[in-house]
Amino acid sequence: PASAPTAVRGPLIRFRADPFRTGNADALVHEADGLLICEGGRITAAGPYAALRDRLPPGTEPVHYSGHLITPGFIDAHTHYVQKEAIAAFGAQLPDWLDRTYVTEERFADGAHARRVASSFCDELLRNGTTTALVFASVHADSADALFEEATRRGMRVAAGKVWMDRNAPDALLDTAQRAYDESSSLIQRWHGKGRNLYAITPRFAPTSTPDQLEAAGALRAAHPTTLVHTHISEHRDEIPWVSSLFPDRDGYLDVYDHYGLLGPRTVLAHGIHLTPAERDHCARSGTAVAHCPSSNLYLGSGLFPLREAKEGDHPLTVALGTDIGAGTSFALLQTMRDAHQVAKLRDHTLDAVKSFYLATRGGAEALGLADTIGSLTPGQEADFTVLDPQATPLLADRTTQADTIEDLLFALTILGDDRAVRATYTAGKLAYDRDAETPFMAD
Ligand code: GUN
Ligand code: ZN
Repeated sequence: PASAPTAVRGPLIRFRADPFRTGNADALVHEADGLLICEGGRITAAGPYAALRDRLPPGTEPVHYSGHLITPGFIDAHTHYVQKEAIAAFGAQLPDWLDRTYVTEERFADGAHARRVASSFCDELLRNGTTTALVFASVHADSADALFEEATRRGMRVAAGKVWMDRNAPDALLDTAQRAYDESSSLIQRWHGKGRNLYAITPRFAPTSTPDQLEAAGALRAAHPTTLVHTHISEHRDEIPWVSSLFPDRDGYLDVYDHYGLLGPRTVLAHGIHLTPAERDHCARSGTAVAHCPSSNLYLGSGLFPLREAKEGDHPLTVALGTDIGAGTSFALLQTMRDAHQVAKLRDHTLDAVKSFYLATRGGAEALGLADTIGSLTPGQEADFTVLDPQATPLLADRTTQADTIEDLLFALTILGDDRAVRATYTAGKLAYDRDAETPFMAD
């Protein structure tokens, strides 16, 4: 029955703070033999098995993942479900790649297609240990319905929205300020705060919206202040002069979003590679988050996100990790952590795996305004977690048996791990994906 308590036992990590601020030792909690007890979709106890075994509800036998690693479910802070079919599209940098990708998004006029892709996209998230995602649908309102419905079937928590675009894209993908407002309003009524779903108002990026449309987006946000805002910023260098020419009265790219009331807590801006220090500071002070998408940035050659600069100083930016499917080439936050490490290294920075795991879990929760709800496996939080297998491949097994600290084990997992290293994924306290089961996806 859905209400039966569940429990898992095994090595466990979680974060009680941001390690960029406090240092790793104060932020990371590691239980060599941990226990998580879940009831009604929430965590009721988390800590050492020896201390908590007496709290197991009568008849609840913990699933013992010995030799594995239980982590908070991964949070993908920026992805496009409608671009699943566009992964590994050949092309040049962003402008050229985007033209090809629009063709893929046009197919979402067909509701049956949207449903099929939404279903396989959610399965792929679970297969990679991702339990929450902030997702772009297409311009078609029912593409957002399809994603919310498929996520709900799997017990996942998603935030998503239909795209707003009323210029500089193919006619088949354009709406208008009024239509985007009306369709998004009814999607908010249908989905925002319903079950685990959240609505994100999703103007694609400044170049594809008129000032009128961004004004309408800001008005909708003001009318529904608990929704999220999700868009792109300063990804490709050529965007910046383009935005200046389209919005001559504004003082740069970030000021466009600021002017229309689109910044603040629960706003997630994807990329932000080329933000100025003043723009980063303004994001930090306004509570606006940036989703760092290193796989996408490397694939498209967009540039190297300045993570160290973003996280240092008196006003560090809230940064999360995004796969940015389909410009990103992997659904795995583990591989995204590896790419973040490589990008940092190319900027003369060394990103350790404690910080990477933070960015992929609690950092994502903070960006989405959900730090009290998910991301750190504390009692009272929703029970989303992932079980990693350090022996998943011969190479991983060879490497991780030499790891004698949790930091080194995490690092090996980020450099060598991918979907194969995800043994199981739990959403709201229930097993949603089991790599080794005959039917791995429980919703099927
Ligand atoms: N900027 C505006 N739209 C997109 C998109 O779909 N993908 C990426 N990577 N950047 C964008
Ligand atoms: Zn994107």
